[in-house]
Amino acid sequence: MMAAFEVSSDPARLDVDLVHRFLAEESSWARGIPRALLERALANSLCFGGYLDGNQVAFARVVTDRATFANMVDVFVLPGQRGRGYSKLLVESVLAHPDLQGLRRFTLATADAHGLYARFGFTPPSRPATLMERYYPDVYQRCR
Ligand SMILES: CC(C)(COP(=O)(O)OP(=O)(O)OC[C@H]1O[C@@H](n2cnc3c(N)ncnc32)[C@H](O)[C@@H]1OP(=O)(O)O)[C@@H](O)C(=O)NCCC(=O)NCCS
Repeated sequence: MMAAFEVSSDPARLDVDLVHRFLAEESSWARGIPRALLERALANSLCFGGYLDGNQVAFARVVTDRATFANMVDVFVLPGQRGRGYSKLLVESVLAHPDLQGLRRFTLATADAHGLYARFGFTPPSRPATLMERYYPDVYQRCR
């Protein structure tokens, strides 16, 4: 029987070793992130794990005031489990979380998974000229 995919926002269930390994070694965006820095980020975020038979295979992190604004980051499904709809179930669960309802703005940045988010109503920024950032993509390389 196929194992059922389950999403939970219980921080106690997170496999921090797995999340750190993927982000530090396999992601394009958080490569080299120190373990202690990730733990601080997790502690101050609303985190979602995706589980198969109790083993974590997916992750998403939401930085939010739980009232008006949220930003979704660090979304991944382990390579061996991709293409089975798990990221869609994960994003669906994120958007259904009771603390993330009625937000004025929900943002995310993605290099190539626009199609995943578009199905949930995410669009390119309607007024890109109004958005500004301080962006240091190689910051984890520098703190080694
Ligand atoms: C992107 C990612 C999370 C998708 O996970 P997945 O479980 O394989 O995706 P699903 O099976 O739920 O399908 C996702 C849907 O979005 C679409 N999609 C759009 N861009 C995609 C992309 N870059 N990768 C995978 N699917 C993508 C797929 O076509 C699919 O739609 P369909 O069912 O109509 O064909 C996964 O490939 C991953 O972890 N990639 C590496 C990390 C990453 O790039 N994360 C995104 C950072 S924002």
